[in-house]
Amino acid sequence: MSVPVTGRASADTGESAWHPAWLPPAAFRELGSRPVLVHGDGPLVDTVLDEVSRACARYGGRLWHGPPWQVDVDLVLALRAAGPVPNAAAEAARLGATPAVNGTGDGSLGDEGYLLARVSGVTVVLADAPGGLLYGMFHVLRLGAAAFDDDLPARRHRPALDRRMLDHWDNVAVHPVSGQVERGYAGGSLFWRDGAARHEPARLRDYGRLLAACGVNAVCVNNVNVHDTEARLLTDRLGDVAEIADVLRPYGVRVHLSVTFAAPVVLGGLPTADPLDERVRAWWAAATRRVYQRIGDFGGYLVKADSEGRPGPFAYGRDHADGANLLAEALAPHGGVVHWRAFVYDHHQDWRDRSTDRARAAHDHFAPLDGRFDDNVILQVKFGPIDFQAREPVSPVLAAMPATRVAVELQATQEYTGQQRHVCYLGPWWSEVLRFRLRGAAGGTIADVAAGRAGTGGGLVAVANVGDDPFWTGHPLAQANLYAFGRLAWDPRLDPGAILDEWIDLTWLPVTTDDPEPVRRTMHAIMDDSWRTYERYTAPLGVGFMVRPGHHYGPDVDGYEYTPWGTYHFADRDGLGVDRTRATGTGFTGQYPPPWSEVYESRERCPDELLLFFHHVPYRHVLHSGRTVIQHIYDTHFAGVEEVAAMRERWRLVAGAVDPAVHDRVAERLDEQFRSAVEWRDQINTYFFRKSGVPDAHGRRIH
Ligand code: GCU
Repeated sequence: MSVPVTGRASADTGESAWHPAWLPPAAFRELGSRPVLVHGDGPLVDTVLDEVSRACARYGGRLWHGPPWQVDVDLVLALRAAGPVPNAAAEAARLGATPAVNGTGDGSLGDEGYLLARVSGVTVVLADAPGGLLYGMFHVLRLGAAAFDDDLPARRHRPALDRRMLDHWDNVAVHPVSGQVERGYAGGSLFWRDGAARHEPARLRDYGRLLAACGVNAVCVNNVNVHDTEARLLTDRLGDVAEIADVLRPYGVRVHLSVTFAAPVVLGGLPTADPLDERVRAWWAAATRRVYQRIGDFGGYLVKADSEGRPGPFAYGRDHADGANLLAEALAPHGGVVHWRAFVYDHHQDWRDRSTDRARAAHDHFAPLDGRFDDNVILQVKFGPIDFQAREPVSPVLAAMPATRVAVELQATQEYTGQQRHVCYLGPWWSEVLRFRLRGAAGGTIADVAAGRAGTGGGLVAVANVGDDPFWTGHPLAQANLYAFGRLAWDPRLDPGAILDEWIDLTWLPVTTDDPEPVRRTMHAIMDDSWRTYERYTAPLGVGFMVRPGHHYGPDVDGYEYTPWGTYHFADRDGLGVDRTRATGTGFTGQYPPPWSEVYESRERCPDELLLFFHHVPYRHVLHSGRTVIQHIYDTHFAGVEEVAAMRERWRLVAGAVDPAVHDRVAERLDEQFRSAVEWRDQINTYFFRKSGVPDAHGRRIH
């Protein structure tokens, strides 16, 4: 007999203290109000059963688990290997010969893929592995009522990238400077508090659900800057990591750990961490073995070495291939990987020295090492050559490592994009990066680099933007960045506007009317272009880094100009920008393959939005837009503030149509965004007016 499973978790229908983000109970209404059959077994299938049964308990549907099939169901979620499937599912499998929406066209579904079809009035999700069933179920949720439309096309779905990871910059112990979460703008850590694990599985479980629902399958649970307490997560605090892994595992999320390269010294008492020293290799092998004894599906290590003061192989005269391969060797027998970061540069630079260029550093260090990394090393490269600015060119390292597995690192936490006090939907920016072709029209995209050949790539990584804030991300609209990251990592070709629609429809169910349109329109009007709005009122034309040193919030044009950090704008009375040309500058343009090496080298061909990243130009230089640089600065800064004012007004108009607590939080943040945008506008415009002496062509007020 089929086993009807109902009300398994009916007690779990109460509201929790935190916002359900894109999984409010109502997102399960369509699925939960129908008869559903789940066929298959295994831990992730149990998760599907649990989700469906809770939805059915809430919305009056019915869950059946297991054969035979003499039941009338609207939805079948089945593992192909679980034995004979109902007729509709068998028919769906036949239809599923159509090409996959992503991934390979070889007909297989892989560990995470699924087939979704509607056959003879039944919606069918078929998978080869339990992970696929889980992702298929979340796809059904995303579609809502449309999942049960008879014209639903039969399609196979597979992630384009196998590795879709969030790096938490969370500290176990509160750090005197960076706090509980380095660059965290959403309260405390979900994992750690005041030096210990939080042991709060309910919240973590919800986090795992949110991640699975947008496609993320890995998290690194601690900061890349590994301090003393965090170093011990590898050894005597490993139990805390195992506990997190246990909670996230049912959602297909594997756990990784940031480790310090000096671990053999600071934890193992060895006199050295030299990667070629036998004792060091033995120490890593033993430590790693113990990790896998405790966490069988442990993902691997993340390492920031020789970067901003962190220990690394340079101290022993070794290079980064030696360093990364040391850890790779320890992880290999267990199937783990090491994510080795390429964020290596000189942070003790002399500002007087115009020849040293931070933008060059990653390529200078890593390009010569291509081909020397072990197979389970993933070189994790920030998407741009500097540091997550609101506008940068794509890092040339991404074109320079064809024989290396490369992961592209994005920053969901909004360190340089308004710190979750400003609305800044990053989907369009990330999409632009992922679609960029470093070798010109005929070459592959950045997403192709992350995907690698036959799924062997390093994938996509983002620095996480969540915390223990009731809305998860501080600014409720910043949830969209987390959601968009997962969706783009699953399929980099998705349209960021369509992703926003998904997120809006799942998250923003109207509270006072059944009509979702006004809220959806308002969200789009506020968010679609919000990254460009942010760009307009902050640092102009790709020059970057005009932020307050240290915390990086708000304007400070000269804040970094005479510091050792290598982030300069070189503004004087005649012009501004960084000359990175081969002809007269730092030569950074030469790190790009053609055509970009030529396009960026040329002042005439360089795209406006990156002009000051690559060139030092006079204020009266005329852009492709027809405006001078100085007039562009004035115009964009006035326009940016007006756009924020309009956002604020739009938001006022939907009061009453969204949850009041969320409305208040967003309103408060928009007030701060407006204040801050005015501050940016006035400081930037005034600074460049005073430097250049060129008045605004429109006579607006500059101080
Ligand atoms: C930035 C950020 C740091 C972080 C570093 C990194 O510099 O400000 O907080 O540690 O990036 O990516 O390692």
